[in-house]
Amino acid sequence: MAYVKLLPPDVELETKRVLKQLARSHRALAELKGFAGMIPNQNILINAVTINEAKDSSEIENIITTHDELFKAMSQENYNNPAAKEVANYRTALWRGYELVKDKQALTVNLIIEIQQLIVKNSAGIRKLPGTVLKNEETGEVLYTPPSGEKEIMLLLDNLVKYINEDYDNIDPLIKLAVIHYQFEVIHPFYDGNGRTGRIINVLYLILKELLNNPILYLSKYIIRNKAAYYRLLQEVRTKGKWEEWILFILDGIEQTAEETLLLVKRINTVVEQTAKDIKNLLPKIYSRELVYLLFFEFYTKIAYLEKGLNITRKTASNYLSLLEEKGFLESHKIGRERIFLNKRLFEVVQQAGTEK
Ligand SMILES: Nc1ncnc2c1ncn2[C@@H]1O[C@H](COP(=O)(O)OP(=O)(O)OP(=O)(O)O)[C@@H](O)[C@H]1O
Ligand SMILES: [Mg+2]
Repeated sequence: MAYVKLLPPDVELETKRVLKQLARSHRALAELKGFAGMIPNQNILINAVTINEAKDSSEIENIITTHDELFKAMSQENYNNPAAKEVANYRTALWRGYELVKDKQALTVNLIIEIQQLIVKNSAGIRKLPGTVLKNEETGEVLYTPPSGEKEIMLLLDNLVKYINEDYDNIDPLIKLAVIHYQFEVIHPFYDGNGRTGRIINVLYLILKELLNNPILYLSKYIIRNKAAYYRLLQEVRTKGKWEEWILFILDGIEQTAEETLLLVKRINTVVEQTAKDIKNLLPKIYSRELVYLLFFEFYTKIAYLEKGLNITRKTASNYLSLLEEKGFLESHKIGRERIFLNKRLFEVVQQAGTEK
């Protein structure tokens, strides 16, 4: 059985190089938190940002889909596209995790198990049977055999959540995030979904430590760009004790991603405000702030959502949507038996950000 060291690591984590990078990562993150906090409708922001995160994080697991398919899968319960459906599940898991952390102000083992179940859509839970190994994707060579046995895994997870929730070591939370991600992946508590669950834990941890108010910072895209280094460094912390490089890698990722996300958040804010102005000008009779928010809640809307959200009749809602389509704000699609209205501007912003690597 593999031997995983309990936390905290018994090495100096706050080295000179780490502290230097740490300042930069904190600055970028604080700027993102500050700007995002000023946006009036936070749910719009979270929903838009998490679409790309769900897509990117799933892509690491070779679940590839397009924004087009995703929009259809999100808007229709039984839309038949397994990959898009899985991406939508990932986003559901993220939202659930966010709500649980806000509510409990802690990251518990049960919460982690629930997130993983939502991602993989099965209830196998913690690994009970041996046989899980991590391989080099190209050569098939076994790189690492994680610990086995539910008891051993539970012990390691308890040690991990204690490290997450209690700041007994007085180490900066961004450094701890790198430690936590490493440790979670090394424990590898589940048969599958450990990478995706670990990536969700990262953002939940930032929220827990109040470095962000919303789940909007994700390393998935950075991991895709630096995949080889990511796997190598995970391996080398364990085999060579290379903590400093690993921590620097994660801190650099936080800085880069915070900067990119800030740009996206600004674009989303701009498109919401511009659309509000345009609707006010072109369709003053139907304009309201609530209407604009409803149109941006997801990148699609439906008659029923407007009916409920604005407390209007079905006929009025349908009329509003036709007018908005006429003026080019929306584009209707018939999916199955339903009519879905795509918010073209939001879709473009999200899609563009999602395809920039
Ligand atoms: N050598 C290694 N040492 C420790 N952890 C590793 C190593 N190689 C990979 N990992 C971790 O295992 C994860 C993959 O595990 P698993 O397949 O259970 O998760 P997933 O979510 O299904 O996949 P993915 O992360 O590829 O999306 C990787 O994302 C990585 O974090
Ligand atoms: Mg997998």
